[in-house]
This record gives sequence, structure tokens and C-alpha cells, in this order.
Amino acid sequence: MTKLRIAVCGVGSLGQHHARIAAASEQAELVAVVDTDRERGLEIAAKCDTTWFSDLASVIEKVDAVQVAAPTGFHLEIGKQVLESGKHLLIEKPLAGNLEQGKALLELFCKKKSEKPDLVGAVGHLERYNPAVIALRTSDFSPRFAEAVRVSPFPMRSLEVDVVMDVMIHDLDLLLSLFKSKVKSVEAVGVPVLTPFPDIVNARIKFEGGSFATVTASRVARKKERVLRIFGEGEYAALDFAEQKLERLKLIKTLEGPQVVPDTTEIAKDEPLRLELEAFYQACTGQSQDIVTFHEAFEAMVVADQVQHAVAASLLEAGFKL
Ligand SMILES: NC(=O)c1ccc[n+]([C@@H]2O[C@H](COP(=O)([O-])OP(=O)(O)OC[C@H]3O[C@@H](n4cnc5c(N)ncnc54)[C@H](O)[C@@H]3O)[C@@H](O)[C@H]2O)c1
Repeated sequence: MTKLRIAVCGVGSLGQHHARIAAASEQAELVAVVDTDRERGLEIAAKCDTTWFSDLASVIEKVDAVQVAAPTGFHLEIGKQVLESGKHLLIEKPLAGNLEQGKALLELFCKKKSEKPDLVGAVGHLERYNPAVIALRTSDFSPRFAEAVRVSPFPMRSLEVDVVMDVMIHDLDLLLSLFKSKVKSVEAVGVPVLTPFPDIVNARIKFEGGSFATVTASRVARKKERVLRIFGEGEYAALDFAEQKLERLKLIKTLEGPQVVPDTTEIAKDEPLRLELEAFYQACTGQSQDIVTFHEAFEAMVVADQVQHAVAASLLEAGFKL
């Protein structure tokens, strides 16, 4: 099998795992890692038995696809460079730092795709590949109400964007994929705590068709928690992302009357990033379409943008200076 030639651009906290998985994949050959930080680039190149470059331009013609895990503030610039070269692109979430930049990338991708129909553009919405999420998405659950909580201690990075684009975007994408409805309205409140941007935000989202979700994201919590509780007619599911656990309860009719019973699904734990990257490699070789598309990632950004505007309005109303 011809291996897909890969460069990983940005090998920091997350990108090192992109490089490790690409280097170990049967489907890929890690041709290079690219990082503006020489020491870091050399360290990860040595670990993955590959070559380090300080700029993508030096290596882009030698690869078929680029995985971008550079800071969000660089997504537009690097994404453009990859697409202009006609290479497949997997870019970390969020697609870009703001809606305008996301739109520019989406439009460029659509233009390039019209010239080269097999071009793949995927976005690293990792939670879609969490085995517990896969189990929920492939079940016949019809959600009516969801409560998502995603909080963590202050990360000291990804601070060029607020908690909505950096953290809440995971749940916004998941909720859109689970509810399969358009968003009707968004209300949100939030405050800056340690950065000039909102660091803790709570949003209430109404979907067309009458279902709702509340979403809380914080990067100023004492400990990590990433959970989703979801309610449908006569059913409930509680999903713990870190533990990859899905607990389901169902209301069933018995001769003795209605009973709530657990619906246990065995979930085989796996590494979501590995599943995401293997799916991307398959998409690049025309074997699968199991990717989070630029369109889907942009839809999540549109809702994130609505949340940001609602938070800004509530801060102004409360007399905060933005
Ligand atoms: N999908 C997820 O669950 C998830 C998790 C964490 C981070 N992310 C995303 O991954 C991206 C990176 O986040 P991180 O936490 O790994 O950041 P990081 O700061 O730890 O790493 C970024 C790396 O990129 C390098 N870099 C900076 N500018 C560059 C450039 N122009 N070209 C090449 N390399 C450059 C830095 O030297 C650094 O090594 C962000 O977009 C973030 O939102 C996604």
C-alpha cells in the first residue's frame, strides 16, 4: 500500500500526538514535523524518527497532506498555504480564530475542491471520535434536552481566543451533530477572569423543533470535568468524555407498570485522536468520508459567534468595559 506522505505543522502540546500517531500509522509516512520553535521541533522529530523544518514552505511539495496543530491564531495563514498548494488538510479545532477567518478558509476550500474534487478538508473535532460519543451517535436516541459541562484549570495556552472558541466549540459541534436541527436562538452570559476574554461562559441554546441545551465552558476551574447529560422521550444518557463511559437509562413498560432500566453498552476504549487521524488518512485515499468537514466546523463557529455576541451584550449591559 502506498503510504500517505504527511507533515505535521505545530508539534506542541497536541501536535506531538499528531506526529506520534502519524509516525506509527500503517497508512501514513511522517515525512516531516514543522515548528517555529527549533528545540521543540528537533525534540519531536527525534522521537518520531523524522525531519524537522522551521517552515512549511520547505516541505509542502514533498507531502500529500498536512495536519495543522499550530496555535489557532495561525490557522488561517497556514490553512491557506496548505490549500493553495492543493494538499489535503486536517486542521485542529476551531477551524479559525473568528468567524470571518473561518469563512475565508471555508470559501478557499470550496474553491480548491471545485478544481480538485478529491481534495479533503477536515477539522479536528476530536470528541466526535470518542468511543462513548460514537456509541451515542450510532444509537437511536432522539434528544430533547442536553446539559454539557466542560471545565478545566487554566491552560496557560490557547489564550488568543476566548473559552467559547477554544473549549465550548467542542460541545457546540457535538450538539449540532446530535440534535440534527438548526439553532433557533442563543442566550449566554460569561465573564473574563484571568484573560481579557470571557473565561467562563454559560449558554442556553434553543433548536428548531423545540429542543434545548445548556452549555457551560470554563478554563478557570479547580479540576477537569467533561460531561454531557442528554434526555429524550423516556430515555437518559450520561456521557463522561475522559472516562469514555456512557450510562443509559430507559423507561420501559412492564406488566407491573413502567420501569426505568439501565441500558448498558460495552464500550471499547480507544484513543480518539488515533481514530480521527486514521479516518482522515482513509478519506484522503478515497476509502471513507468519516471526517468532520469544514462546513460542519464552520456551523459550530457560527453558533460560537452567536454565543460570543450574547456574552458581549450581557457584559455591556452589566457595565463591564470590553
Ligand atoms: N482537538 C482537541 O481536543 C484539541 C486539544 C488541544 C489543542 N487543540 C488545538 O490545537 C492547536 C494547538 O494547541 P496546543 O495546545 O497544542 O498549542 P501549543 O502552544 O502547545 O503548541 C503549538 C505549537 O505550534 C508551534 N507554532 C507556533 N506558530 C507556528 C507556526 N506559524 N508554524 C508552525 N508551528 C508553529 C509552537 O512552537 C508550538 O510548538 C490549537 O488550535 C488548539 O485549539 C485541539
